Amino acid sequence: MSNAPVDNGRRRFLTWSTVAVGGVGAAFTAVPFIKSWNPSAKAKAAGAPVEVDISKLEPGQLIRVEWRGKPVWVVNRTKQTLDALSAHDDKLRDPSSEEPQQPDYAHNGYRSIKPEIFVAVGICTHLGCSPSYLPDSFGEQVQGVTSGFFCPCHGSKFDMAGRVFQGVPAPLNLVIPPYKFINDTTILVGADGKEA
Ligand code: FES
Repeated sequence: MSNAPVDNGRRRFLTWSTVAVGGVGAAFTAVPFIKSWNPSAKAKAAGAPVEVDISKLEPGQLIRVEWRGKPVWVVNRTKQTLDALSAHDDKLRDPSSEEPQQPDYAHNGYRSIKPEIFVAVGICTHLGCSPSYLPDSFGEQVQGVTSGFFCPCHGSKFDMAGRVFQGVPAPLNLVIPPYKFINDTTILVGADGKEA
């Protein structure tokens, strides 16, 4: 055992420098965690509402936009299409949209805020394929119904309000996302509300 005198001054210095280095280390290691708590601009943009210009959307036309990585359809339904919606309720699984697949303001016969403008998430409620829009040839799928959406994966069928037909694997109507009109020709998908 050494009989050398204890150098208390040196011991204090070593103690303090260890604490100081530990503090600096903690500061350095904390940075990546703090960074990961803040969502990146890209992540924020991915969840942000999407503005859709419908000023050039022709009657019968469908446009697709992406919101939160999902396809969202915006369709300009003709008067003829709207009139035909009430003619096949008996063929639908949930004609009155009792299942909560839409916001309250789209819980009506058209499943939309304005009858002619239909907004829906274009993902089949069976296993997630994206159905095809058949504006003129849907009658080959459901006799007497001119237009609708057909999912080629396992044959699910939806009408022009995104309501699922009976006898197909999809259990539910298509999802209506939150959206609102900013003005007559612009929709904001992903933002709740009726009309601005
Ligand atoms: S994913 Fe559409 S019918 Fe199966």
